[in-house]
Amino acid sequence: METRIVKVETIDAPIIKKAAQLIRDGEVVAFPTETVYGLGANGLNEEASAKIYRAKGRPSDNPLILHIDSIRMLSQIADTVPHMATEIMASFCPGPVTLIIKKKAVIPDTITGGLDTVGVRMPSNTIAHQLIELAGVPIAAPSANISGRPSPTTAIDVNKDMQGRIPLILDGGASNFGVESTIIDCTQDIPIILRPGAITKEMLLKIFPEVQIDSALLKKGQVPRAPGMKYRHYAPKAPVLLFTGAQGAMPEAFKDALVEYEKAGKKVAVLGSTELLAQLNNCMDRFDYGSKNDLQAIAANLFTGLRYFDDRDVDIILAEGTTSKGIGLAIMNRLKKASGQNLRCV
Ligand code: TXA
Ligand code: MG
Repeated sequence: METRIVKVETIDAPIIKKAAQLIRDGEVVAFPTETVYGLGANGLNEEASAKIYRAKGRPSDNPLILHIDSIRMLSQIADTVPHMATEIMASFCPGPVTLIIKKKAVIPDTITGGLDTVGVRMPSNTIAHQLIELAGVPIAAPSANISGRPSPTTAIDVNKDMQGRIPLILDGGASNFGVESTIIDCTQDIPIILRPGAITKEMLLKIFPEVQIDSALLKKGQVPRAPGMKYRHYAPKAPVLLFTGAQGAMPEAFKDALVEYEKAGKKVAVLGSTELLAQLNNCMDRFDYGSKNDLQAIAANLFTGLRYFDDRDVDIILAEGTTSKGIGLAIMNRLKKASGQNLRCV
């Protein structure tokens, strides 16, 4: 199959109509969102969503999120919407958040991996919004990467993984946030964060007295409540060693590790902050993910950084950890998974 990449210049571009038609016809189309690019299909059509799993090579027990354009469309998915979900929507939707609520029977089991709940998200990206509106159905969309790889934040990265597998990629430029949506379980008494993202625990605490984080995200050895969180993910081709702990100790720890790996004859790369890189020599491959003082920028650059070394033939990537405050929790969650929990505490 030939994959077309088409730049979307204006919001009424005819190509969005064409993409919506493909979705209504049961095809799969990649499209931009404010978090990462999605791989979309008609969320009420079993065969169409099965194509998503095939294109990604995704395990069938890992459910898909349904993307909606309006509260009206929500009624196609859920009979009752918990008060907690309504409050989150009032504050943060459209935006980078996914709500887990009880599903309606019309939603195929292929979408929800057999669960009685469904993830719902209303993206703020105008191309995504227009696409859902014109398709007239909820769009099931995981991140548009091959399963296990870093999520794509540009159309070029989508094409690297999806070329020949899908007919169309809508190119809407780089994603704003760069990490996937915050997933919140709204079926319990207290909101539970199942995947951290740009809508942070601190932000949720402004509207709820208590917010939990799925304990499996913080401790080893527990099964996460979001099925997809149990898989290795975000992995570049080279292994990643993640440095965590005291920010002030990072430069010395990196200098020592560079000597250690270079002695062993390894081609080392560094993924880290502007401040860290300024203190290291220029000998190795490097990707500057932004200033330590700008976690939003680090989140936006993170997956580009993880993919950057793939065609540079390096043996190991030394990655600098950030604080876990605010969106830092999402950054550290992705970095830990990318490293397969290969950590060095400094
Ligand atoms: O930002 C995003 O959420 C992006 C864009 C494209 O919208 N989508 C995305 O989808 O990240 P995906 O499939 O890559 O990740 C969805 C995560 C998986 O970990 C999945 O297991 C979890 O959501 N999930 C989906 N439905 C669920 C449910 N009913 N209960 C618990 N977790 C669920
Ligand atoms: Mg994903």
